[in-house]
Amino acid sequence: MERKRPRLQPLQPGRLRSSRTRLSFMTRSSINRRLSLSFLSVAVCLLIGATSVSAEDGYRLWLRYDQLPSPQLNDYRARISELVIPGQSATLEIIRSELGNGLQGLLGKSLPVRERIENDGALVVLSANNPLAARLKWKGELSALGPEGFQIKTRKLDGHLVNVIAAQTEIGALHGSFYFLRLLQTLKPIASLSVSEEPRLQLRLLDHWDNLDGTIERGYAGRSLWNWSELPATIDPRLRDYARANASVGINGTVLNNVNANAQILTAEYLRKVAALANTFRPYGIRVYLSPRFSAPMELSGLKTADPLAPEVISWWQKKADEIYDLIPDFGGFLVKANSEGQPGPRTYNRSHAEGANMLAAAVAPHHGVVIWRAFVYDMKPGYDRAGAADAELQPFDGTFAPNVLLQVKNGPIDFQPREPFHPLFGAMPRTQVIPEFQITQEYLGWSNHLAFLASMWREFLDSDTFAKGSGSTVTKVIDGRLYHQKITGMAGVANTGTDRNWTGHHFLQANWYAFGRLAWNPDLSSRQIAAEWIAMTLTRDANAAQAIERIMLDSHEAVVDYMTPLGLHHLFWGGHHYGPAPWWNKEKRDDWNPVYFHRADAAGIGFDRSATGSNTVAQYQAPVREQFGRLHSCPEKFLLWFHHVPWDYRLHSGKTLWDELGLHYERGVDWVRATRRQWDLLKGAIDDERYEAIAQKLAIQERDAIVWRDACLLYFQTFAKRPLPAGVEKAAKSLDEYEAKSLLDQ
Ligand code: GCU
Repeated sequence: MERKRPRLQPLQPGRLRSSRTRLSFMTRSSINRRLSLSFLSVAVCLLIGATSVSAEDGYRLWLRYDQLPSPQLNDYRARISELVIPGQSATLEIIRSELGNGLQGLLGKSLPVRERIENDGALVVLSANNPLAARLKWKGELSALGPEGFQIKTRKLDGHLVNVIAAQTEIGALHGSFYFLRLLQTLKPIASLSVSEEPRLQLRLLDHWDNLDGTIERGYAGRSLWNWSELPATIDPRLRDYARANASVGINGTVLNNVNANAQILTAEYLRKVAALANTFRPYGIRVYLSPRFSAPMELSGLKTADPLAPEVISWWQKKADEIYDLIPDFGGFLVKANSEGQPGPRTYNRSHAEGANMLAAAVAPHHGVVIWRAFVYDMKPGYDRAGAADAELQPFDGTFAPNVLLQVKNGPIDFQPREPFHPLFGAMPRTQVIPEFQITQEYLGWSNHLAFLASMWREFLDSDTFAKGSGSTVTKVIDGRLYHQKITGMAGVANTGTDRNWTGHHFLQANWYAFGRLAWNPDLSSRQIAAEWIAMTLTRDANAAQAIERIMLDSHEAVVDYMTPLGLHHLFWGGHHYGPAPWWNKEKRDDWNPVYFHRADAAGIGFDRSATGSNTVAQYQAPVREQFGRLHSCPEKFLLWFHHVPWDYRLHSGKTLWDELGLHYERGVDWVRATRRQWDLLKGAIDDERYEAIAQKLAIQERDAIVWRDACLLYFQTFAKRPLPAGVEKAAKSLDEYEAKSLLDQ
């Protein structure tokens, strides 16, 4: 069923929809007017054909290409007359089809596609090897922008005033084409363009935690997009749409399988399937990577050991790399989870992480591949602090990794919590190529049920000052090479995609996929800009509605933190599935998987003391960050209980006690969801009914869940605090026993 759906096509309901989206939503009478108009629109849609109505299932993502509104439409129509895309190749074909379909949808007219410029208003797409490019006289500038950069300029060429998208390579030209389409989709002027863009980070990777049986670890939007049983013979057309969507935001790599890896992915049978995916993604500028299982030589070939220094192991990996590159010459490389959560690795053989990484790196180096080694390691030792484990284990190896090894570090020191301070390894490994790993999929942020726009969280992380080289040493500067001039840079995000028709399970969470790509391309972009772009391209061009939606998105992350883990609390999640609260949870086999280990609530107070009086992991940060976080009075309140065990009556900046502020934060989170639902009611008609209703239903779930979070956490913490809830906090809907008896997932 899924696979029989058509590829993304610029359907044509835009004219109707744009008349609706121009309507304001601020007053009751305008809502009524709009409702009757939207009723009319729906009726007309039905007359035109059912496809345009039923197509609003979110499949088209931000590449909708519905017709633009006036006055921009008239302006663009006057300025774009023909497409000139000379040359033949798979990528040029993709550019022709994207610009052809895109402009036809956006402008409501089809444009002639030519080999040479015949009119003013030509949109010319060139890569440096095209003879026409020689006449541009800006080839030098293009090569300076590298293999993925591009320029877009309004110029006189062959006697005509034209817009030229030019790049060193065809892939650069593809990025430029998507950029040009985005200008139109977001109603930007194109009369006098002078754009120069290149990605700031080199490896912009989606990590898929997809298993070979089609399930996705921590995936909440259906099954894996890779249909292994049909590959390599059948290529689901949806895979091209996946590649298009990624290319449109600049993502250039995809790690196909779960870091909790199955060795089978490296068998000849699976490698042929992987090659088929690589062939599909290549013309979009996307390389494939794999997660190998460190013990694969034992599992696949019966070797007695996987010791990275054993000659037979070294030669096994070299042969395996040769085999892979024979099939996939541009294979990206390996992403490795080793000696973490039960995975095998070099430590099993008393070798260091660097020795393990470098052995694999040597195998792929002759083919220009990389090894991305994950820093998510935390061996449980008596009395240890999990937040300090990765730094303690890996920092001493700074400078010992091979030149084609990258160290992939989660944004925070624990595990993708709703809020964490930045990981101390950022800024602590000047001689290592450190790249951040984000979790786009919302394991700890309400799965695909809660609206949480993660660009705000990632922005906070990227803007964090590590003080690694004095003030202003932000994480962005650590990772983009400005501070340490590393040769390879990158950013990875654990994907939130699946076979759900809308790709991400919740329409709004498409924005997180989008935001990840945009930030990996340019880690300085503001959350506001990213939200505004995505809204205009995906939801509505009604200025008032867009503004209201932007506010919702920008406030959403803080709200989720408020109703889940305010003031620096973390890992209060129900065991295993991590959906819903269980601060009482104490039955995991490892202490550091238990919420009670993390919040440490007792009669005196709450929070994990990581200051000098406690585990002192705060010392892993550079001065003066460690002093700021390490002292109770200067620690930012958003991280208070991350670094300190704080008395219940401790006064916060507001003058209120910790206990009261805790209650008020939880309440604020719930109130935000309720206010957002009311706001959403007012937005009816500003977007199509199908997506509007689907989002409304998700918001209802989010409200239910936020209430459970507030009640369960406050009731439980109250058993220690023994204080009444402050004024303004609603009485719990159920008893603590009831919340403890049943996980939110089962309600
Ligand atoms: C989390 C998550 C696991 C995942 C792990 C990782 O612990 O719950 O499912 O495997 O992160 O990042 O490796």
